[in-house]
Amino acid sequence: MNVVFTEEFASQQFDDEPLFELMATNIAHQGYSIHPNALPPSLLNNLYQYVQTMSDGQFKRAGIGREDNLMLNNFVRKDEVCWINGESDAGKIWLDWSASLQRYLNQHLFLGLFSFESHFAHYSPGDYYKKHKDAFKGEANRVLSLVVYLNSDWLQEDGGELVIYQDETQEEIVKVMPSFGTIVAFLSEEFPHEVLPAHRDRYSIAGWFRVNTSGIDKVDPPR
Ligand code: OGA
Ligand code: MN
Repeated sequence: MNVVFTEEFASQQFDDEPLFELMATNIAHQGYSIHPNALPPSLLNNLYQYVQTMSDGQFKRAGIGREDNLMLNNFVRKDEVCWINGESDAGKIWLDWSASLQRYLNQHLFLGLFSFESHFAHYSPGDYYKKHKDAFKGEANRVLSLVVYLNSDWLQEDGGELVIYQDETQEEIVKVMPSFGTIVAFLSEEFPHEVLPAHRDRYSIAGWFRVNTSGIDKVDPPR
């Protein structure tokens, strides 16, 4: 697929509501939601162009665990990440879009999503992320995980699928190819998942909506 958009096409008004509604329904009924080619073309185009211009130096080895207890663990994950703070236009557009998704989900599912953190991720050939959960029960913090893929012409033999498992049985629920424009959302505490080894460069955005865990002696500002 050649990802070229004309100005006219890119500037057309895109109605997010049908996708948001589907996502809310899926999440309410099954806890996860997967939609190929569902994002606004202008958003995708911006993110795709931006990720092409990023240099290897902007990506840093990803850690596991909380920020104050970060561990680098080659066995668990090998990808590199770059946190999105809204400094680039693409980052801003992405954060605006995810904020409108957050508003929609809060209005329709009463999830109480309070903040959002996200990063670009780059898996070089051979990189993977072993089975893990994005949040743990009782540490209610990350509530909803969101992943968007930015790889054109991804083929079966390129590997790098996201595999989502049932929590109790550890049975595989679904395998998702990281194809351009596919969006995945799932409840962070409910679904173990992994990224199978990629056989070519694999680019994505992973993000997490969090609830407010502020206490009397703790402030929990959005990142
Ligand atoms: C993660 C993750 C999935 C993917 O970054 O925590 O599980 O498909 N990513 O990139
Ligand atoms: Mn994960």
